[in-house]
Amino acid sequence: MLAAHIAGLGGYVPPRAVHNKELEKILDTTDEWIQQRTGIVTRHWAAPDVGTSDLALEAAQRAIVDAGIALTEIDMIIMASSTPDHDIPGGGCFLQAKLGLPGVPYFEVKQACSGFVYGLSLADQFIKTGHKKCILLVGVEIQSKLLDMTPRGRAVSVIFADGAGAAIIKATEVKDKAKDSYIHSTVLHADGSFAKELWIPAPGTALGAARIIPKMEEDGLVYLHMNARHVFSHAVTKMPEVMKEACALANTGLEQIDLFFFHQANLRISDHVAESLGLKPERMHNTIQKYGNTTAATIPLGMWDALKEGKLKRGQLIGISAFGAGFTWAAAVFRY
Ligand code: UT7
Repeated sequence: MLAAHIAGLGGYVPPRAVHNKELEKILDTTDEWIQQRTGIVTRHWAAPDVGTSDLALEAAQRAIVDAGIALTEIDMIIMASSTPDHDIPGGGCFLQAKLGLPGVPYFEVKQACSGFVYGLSLADQFIKTGHKKCILLVGVEIQSKLLDMTPRGRAVSVIFADGAGAAIIKATEVKDKAKDSYIHSTVLHADGSFAKELWIPAPGTALGAARIIPKMEEDGLVYLHMNARHVFSHAVTKMPEVMKEACALANTGLEQIDLFFFHQANLRISDHVAESLGLKPERMHNTIQKYGNTTAATIPLGMWDALKEGKLKRGQLIGISAFGAGFTWAAAVFRY
């Protein structure tokens, strides 16, 4: 059976670690509030001269080494990001140029926190149908440059952060379905009626005659807005629901999954998800404490982190589940 499998992983966070204490000075917040309400202690912020594709490049290079492939084997790039280098063209194009892969097509996946899982599903379909053999998938964000760094934005700005995680998804011939490494299932959902619960309103074409005017910045429309409690309540419902769906589609039970990676939005959300699935804490890998919420990057960054710690190992059955802007939610089951 022709299938897709994760052949390599890479991750990268920019060197500058920002502790909650540093935010106390600008956001009318406290280290204690942030830790209690989100679990976050530090996050990383990119330097002014660094763009999203620079972080993606670092993670991609590590994933290429981990997979042991030649750069020229990559025949497609999928970049999951809501924060590309520029509005047009998509960030995947800058990554493609930096990697030096002229002619290789790229896709832009803009499903925010669910972006990596959406991208994994896309890669899976291209490989299973025989159209592509080796796809670079990157989840990457620079959120720090989109945040309202005044007390007005404190509920949102303490959470989001910068980082990248990459995976090399390769074609494989599965001989033993119970043991071989391959993607068993992916499940994708969206509900656009909640689009304005977590969004950046401006600039945009639905705002009148002008796409961008200075007042949009004054009014804070260029920053990320979140109906926090609403997002929280949907996240704790949809992430376990879709994880169960992905297990059912993979013909596997939750108990057979060795390790879970949930989108890292808030440690309390991950704890709720684990509780509703009946999981002991050691069966999931959380990284929000040190990386914050890196949107599309949290899951691949978490997998890379677990790999470095020796927690993620070849042969394990893995469950991943995400929820975010859109609203979108998605999950996958694969043997690593
Ligand atoms: O990744 C995409 C999906 N995103 C998420 O899933 C995030 C979901 N939401 C959350 O994680 C949480 O709702 C937050 C961490 C954003 C907020 O936590 P909360 O417990 O829901 O707080 P809240 O918004 O209900 O605010 C509680 C209080 C308010 O004060 P009053 O009205 O009770 O006096 C806020 O003004 O906490 C205050 N507050 C803060 N205080 C100190 C809000 N943000 C802060 C802050 N520092 N940064």
